[in-house]
Amino acid sequence: MTHPKTPGNGRVSIRDVAARAGVSVGTVSNVLNRSTVVAASTRERVQEAIDALGFVRNESARQLRAGKSRTIGLIVLDISNPFFTDVARGVEDAASKSGVSMVLCNSDDDPAKEARYLGLLAEQRVQGVLIVPAGAKATRFAGLSDRGIPMVLLDRKATGSAVCSVSVDDVGGGFMAMSHLLEQGHRRVAFVGGGGTRQVVERHRGACQALEAQGMSPAELVRFGTQALNTTGGREAGREMVARPAQTRPTGVLCANDLLALGVIQEISAAGLRVGIDIAVVGYDDIDFAAVSAVPLSSVRQPRHALGYTAASLLLEEASDSTHRHQQVVFVPELVVRASSERPRPTG
Ligand code: RIB
Repeated sequence: MTHPKTPGNGRVSIRDVAARAGVSVGTVSNVLNRSTVVAASTRERVQEAIDALGFVRNESARQLRAGKSRTIGLIVLDISNPFFTDVARGVEDAASKSGVSMVLCNSDDDPAKEARYLGLLAEQRVQGVLIVPAGAKATRFAGLSDRGIPMVLLDRKATGSAVCSVSVDDVGGGFMAMSHLLEQGHRRVAFVGGGGTRQVVERHRGACQALEAQGMSPAELVRFGTQALNTTGGREAGREMVARPAQTRPTGVLCANDLLALGVIQEISAAGLRVGIDIAVVGYDDIDFAAVSAVPLSSVRQPRHALGYTAASLLLEEASDSTHRHQQVVFVPELVVRASSERPRPTG
């Protein structure tokens, strides 16, 4: 027994619409794609058939036939980190301005998961891919260019000019944050953040350079190498920090991002110590929560919206303009000093 094509059951085809309206499949296609070339009375008949049958066009099939979809992909490391959702907002604003949609993917900083998403986006024939590379290496994206899919590195500076990239000077950001703590008189200083994430590695490198600039050894920078770059990792590092005797406990702490810093602040307060007085804390990103934290958090501000907007604009230009030339855009971060580190270290 054949199941009748009932409205809205998802199995209604363009041929059913044509039969119901008494027109050719080509006429229905014209109504869907170039309605101005179809007479008004015919347009109305076709629209009535579409409404009566509940026809829904298969947009992805149409886009695949057209060779490219009106979509770009964005792959970030951790969608639960407000830094990346702010970046995604910039991407989406640039994309929607060009009538392009955005598909957001979360790699969890896992190259294998990232590869699965890259394959999915390639199958969907997206116009291009913006990617915050997982892991330390970003040299594994040849598959995209082999398929003619433009890619822009985001939050990672491209080595060379084979692709566009939009990033922030993380070495400079770590340097300016640690210099601030040293200028406040802190000498027992620490860095919270571990793992192989390139952004963390570069912020730590900048912090070490700040010690050297003050005639100190980088070995004097105590490291709390938490793997999780979130509040859980921050609380873990904070507990370890406050458990130390006061004489050896750091008095100035730079965290690799704000989520870590918010966790560290929680543990400092839970131990009865005063943030910004007993221990100064600086974060990185300047997400919205930083300013409204129980003790407003000093942070290295990254231009999150501009990062996403600029990267998406470069990608769309590359996808549509044959004269496009690759650029490696590097933003300079800004230190925002708040109560968590504004007081100089008490002398004595
Ligand atoms: O994912 C870790 C960090 O890298 C984020 O907090 C943001 O700073 C990014 O650059």
